[in-house]
Amino acid sequence: MCQSDNAMTESPSDSKHRPLVIRTLPALGRALAPWRAQQETVALVPTMGALHAGHLALVRLAQRRADHVVISIFVNPTQFAPHEDLKNYPRTFAEDAAALAKLKADLIWAPNVDAMYPAGFATRVVPEGPALVGLEDAFRPHFFAGVATVVAKLVIQCRPEIVVFGEKDYQQLKVVTQLVRDLDLPTRIVSAPTVREADGLALSSRNRYLTPREREAAPVLYRVLSDCAKQIAAGKPVGLVLGEGRAAVMNAGFALDYLEARHAETLAPLTSIKQGPVRLLVAARIGKTRLIDNVAA
Ligand code: PAJ
Repeated sequence: MCQSDNAMTESPSDSKHRPLVIRTLPALGRALAPWRAQQETVALVPTMGALHAGHLALVRLAQRRADHVVISIFVNPTQFAPHEDLKNYPRTFAEDAAALAKLKADLIWAPNVDAMYPAGFATRVVPEGPALVGLEDAFRPHFFAGVATVVAKLVIQCRPEIVVFGEKDYQQLKVVTQLVRDLDLPTRIVSAPTVREADGLALSSRNRYLTPREREAAPVLYRVLSDCAKQIAAGKPVGLVLGEGRAAVMNAGFALDYLEARHAETLAPLTSIKQGPVRLLVAARIGKTRLIDNVAA
């Protein structure tokens, strides 16, 4: 790491196009000020690091939409339950910074936990609506309050014109869209399609936990979602299609949390394509790894 005049601002040393690495709020304010003064636009891409091609696609989309891109890398403790994988969540900062340098990204906002949640921190944003529909919230009750709190803070800290989220985390996308609307946060949510492996498996930081046998089974999730979407679009009853889909996921060795058909905007349950645009969402566990995915039907 080479140090600049500000000890809290670092640049990864392995590229000519180094994104600034900022770790404190005052340094962030100083980095954003000249862009603001020039009336240049800013896009924010919130991440927890361990960047893969899905994250990088969000960064490229952000670069097309704004003059500058801030990528936040923060493994947010408040969205993990005590039994979840916070401690073991992959942290690959040097590789992340190198990947972002290749994209000529402007700025990495990587606060430590004390900068984001100083001693005495006592406020939580607790979302309802799409955060309370019996999907991820039923299995991870802490999750969306943690996400909403940190996303609200990131938007206030970075003041971006747009914030880019992946459809991969579809319920999260709907929750943050509602959050921005309800709190009048002065930004706009932009969504990006899910990036997949050649066999259909959605890229995820957690895929690295899969054993070779689990990795072989994993594409069943996307296969089942795609099959179900085709059958529902062809008019087969939704309940019947989901029943067969659930069996196929379990037969492949997964413990199923849910496979559901929901209204694509409200996430309300539906039983027929006549009730609105349909999104199919799945969450399932194999070995120690929990995977989620979704498609339009
Ligand atoms: P993380 O899991 O790191 O994901 C960061 C962003 O990348 C999210 O918007 C997610 O939907 C998107 N993403 C992940 N996999 C993708 C894929 N295969 N294709 C396209 N986009 C993909 O989601 C979070 O972090 C956190 O909850 C966060 C929003 C940063 C708040 O802490």
